Amino acid sequence: MISINIREEKASDYEAVKKVLLDAFETSEEAELVERIRSSKFYVPELSLVAVHKKKIVGHILFSEIEIQSNKTTYKTLALAPVSVAQKFQRNGIGAKLIMSGLEKATDLGFDSVILLGHADYYPRFGFEPTSTWEISPPFDVPVENFMGIELVPKGLHKKSGTVKYPTIWQL
Ligand SMILES: CC(C)(COP(=O)(O)OP(=O)(O)OC[C@H]1O[C@@H](n2cnc3c(N)ncnc32)[C@H](O)[C@@H]1OP(=O)(O)O)[C@@H](O)C(=O)NCCC(=O)NCCS
Repeated sequence: MISINIREEKASDYEAVKKVLLDAFETSEEAELVERIRSSKFYVPELSLVAVHKKKIVGHILFSEIEIQSNKTTYKTLALAPVSVAQKFQRNGIGAKLIMSGLEKATDLGFDSVILLGHADYYPRFGFEPTSTWEISPPFDVPVENFMGIELVPKGLHKKSGTVKYPTIWQL
């Protein structure tokens, strides 16, 4: 196991985080999304975390505010996206550390749930399950097993059936 420290991202980390995002993903879309979220009202600075190995940033995770819209009410929740680990450092448990630290921090901050679109064979190990469990739908067409949620507190998504709404800054 390599030594990894997870801490909050600082403005001076932005360039290094961008490098990790560009390395981990095939396109620059995720790096651009992170920049748009950072300069929006949906940004939660405490939930932009970096993974540091020997003073070098090797991973990053961002959670930001989104909503679930039901017929009558709007519920606040969090989107987990993106999470990235530099290719050379993948499969060392760094992604897992970022996700678990983020979920813990989000709970401490009083959020009751997290939603994500991701690999169906990765996120269930952290407790994520398809949002169909709570009759919560994605706003786009995706396989049901890829759109997942987790309750950070008991019944965090209970009786919140509706459709997830992403702010327009998420559009490419
Ligand atoms: C997904 C990601 C953040 C996981 O981080 P990580 O530090 O490599 O993950 P962990 O070491 O905690 O967990 C390893 C598990 O992740 C999955 N995984 C990690 N890298 C993977 C890869 N390149 N391809 C497929 N699965 C991968 C595997 O299920 C692996 O489990 P295994 O060890 O039992 O095979 C990282 O691989 C990454 O940055 N990928 C590119 C960007 C991306 O796809 N982000 C997620 C968008 S949903």
